[in-house]
Amino acid sequence: MKNKSALQAERVTRSRTVEQWVVGQPTSDGAGVKLTRVLTQSLQRRLDPFLMLDAFASDKPEDYIAGFPDHPHRGFETVTYMIAGRMLHRDSAGHQGLLGNGGVQWMTAGSGVIHSEIPQQEEGVMEGFQLWLNLPGRDKMCAPWYRDFAAADLPGFVTEAGVGVTVIAGASHGQTGAVTREATAPLYLDLRLPARARFVQSLPVTHNAFLYVYRGAVKVAGQAVPAPRMAILANDLQADGVELEAADEARVLLIAGQPLNEPIAQYGPFVMNTAQEITQAVDDYRAGRLGMAGAA
Ligand code: CO
Repeated sequence: MKNKSALQAERVTRSRTVEQWVVGQPTSDGAGVKLTRVLTQSLQRRLDPFLMLDAFASDKPEDYIAGFPDHPHRGFETVTYMIAGRMLHRDSAGHQGLLGNGGVQWMTAGSGVIHSEIPQQEEGVMEGFQLWLNLPGRDKMCAPWYRDFAAADLPGFVTEAGVGVTVIAGASHGQTGAVTREATAPLYLDLRLPARARFVQSLPVTHNAFLYVYRGAVKVAGQAVPAPRMAILANDLQADGVELEAADEARVLLIAGQPLNEPIAQYGPFVMNTAQEITQAVDDYRAGRLGMAGAA
């Protein structure tokens, strides 16, 4: 982790509360990878601009070994965060990257990519998350973009209370994250909290926000959230952020973003604004035009 400059305290006078707990749905995707879909399609409007959060964690190779062979995407961004294990990414825009422990891959599908994500291990633990972040209508057909960040290249710091923070997107305590985005202004933090440690983060009141507790348990405004659970944070004009307190040693994703308030039309790996744009995406994919440079 890199620590670029002095930490600035986050000021929160009133914390958001927990509106709803979500346990997630066990499912499988790709070539049979077992995962938990935490942010499902029914929560897309509530958690705009986020479209999906998948959590995968297994030490059984049969749960992950086949990975995600070639498949398309159009109209949004995927953010893959690997806690343990190694995954090889290859895409039609010519990008290739090996994602390892603690690394992040950020891919803007834009007008379209075809990519594969294949585990590079035959045993051991594979654990991580994939978040889908929507693009505003004006950017859905932008050129694809890709970056991967090794754990050592991700901005991070430790607070006075001993909370380890990795800033994947947005900014926290004066530290700017690996990726920033203007339209959705996403905040994506991974927090490692010692038992009883507190952490505060200011949040714009207009942002939709949620936590995913994947180890231990935390309290948010006095309400317990044990792993593995997502907690949707209530939108409250009087609340200027969130305050967490670890009950046990805990690991938590804190994710927030500015809603786009646009129509969401999804068909599998394509997320556009209208049914007509979805038909176009399917046609482009079937005709071999999706992901071909200059053809989108
Ligand atoms: Co994909």
